[in-house]
Amino acid sequence: MSPTQNIVLITGANQGIGYAVAEQLLKHENYFILLGSRNAENGIKAAAKLDPSGKSVEPITIDVTDDASIQQAADQIASKYGHIDVLINNAGNNNEFTHYWKQQESKEEIKLDLAALRQIYREAYDVNLFGAAITTEAFIPLLKKANAKPARIVFVSSHTGSIGLRTDPSSEFYERMSRPSFPAYRSSKTAMNMLTLHYAAMFKEQGWKVNASCPNLTKSAFTRFSDLGRSPAESAVNIVRLANLPENGETGQYLDENGIVAW
Ligand SMILES: NC(=O)c1ccc[n+]([C@@H]2O[C@H](COP(=O)([O-])OP(=O)(O)OC[C@H]3O[C@@H](n4cnc5c(N)ncnc54)[C@H](OP(=O)(O)O)[C@@H]3O)[C@@H](O)[C@H]2O)c1
Repeated sequence: MSPTQNIVLITGANQGIGYAVAEQLLKHENYFILLGSRNAENGIKAAAKLDPSGKSVEPITIDVTDDASIQQAADQIASKYGHIDVLINNAGNNNEFTHYWKQQESKEEIKLDLAALRQIYREAYDVNLFGAAITTEAFIPLLKKANAKPARIVFVSSHTGSIGLRTDPSSEFYERMSRPSFPAYRSSKTAMNMLTLHYAAMFKEQGWKVNASCPNLTKSAFTRFSDLGRSPAESAVNIVRLANLPENGETGQYLDENGIVAW
């Protein structure tokens, strides 16, 4: 790593949108990528594929549901590099979709008992909300030492977490968003949006740029590579833009590549 490189940590970057973000950041700017993966082997493979030289990409094991794993990653980065410049909270959980697909394949209704339903909520919130919050807290000390001005945090959210889109009949998303589906996943992203505002307010005076990005339906493992989805590369574009914001860039916003999305 060279001293002029910006250090960016991306959680859940061994595949899908996170991986595409890493790929674009490598081309886009002078970045050193810490490629987060909960599975060490998958992280090593993905990092080697992106950058066989190892000069600009390094795998880092981080499971955002495991405090010891988060702390270990933060300690490791602190002792090796002393700071990070950008944090991208990308890791996501879609266990509700797993049930949805099973239901689609079954001829009979699969009723979840309360314990199974609670488990779905716990897992979704553990990754999408608690994981993003605790990871952010763990890396704030390293972001405070960022070389880049401004430091940046991107929360990878979703249009499906928008209360605005869900309640506005004039929105092009209204029909899709107003269906009563995936309440655990969607509400966890709505809550993530509030986290975005929280951290944007907390670091407003320091000039940090803290925003949430909506990837849109994407062909990734998340959606079982749905043909209805677009490529991870397309969904990565706005995340990469937010990871690169200059000092006069926006903060405390919820956006996709077309602009501001209603909260
Ligand atoms: N795909 C879509 O249509 C879509 C739409 C809107 C928003 N998003 C959001 O975009 C983000 C990336 O999703 P994707 O489509 O790229 O899905 P993906 O290809 O399945 O990638 C998700 C990543 O999160 C990782 N992850 C899951 N649990 C984790 C944990 N406990 N700790 C650390 N990493 C964990 C996964 O690791 P493993 O590889 O080990 O499973 C994987 O690397 C998610 O936040 C998702 O909510 C996706």
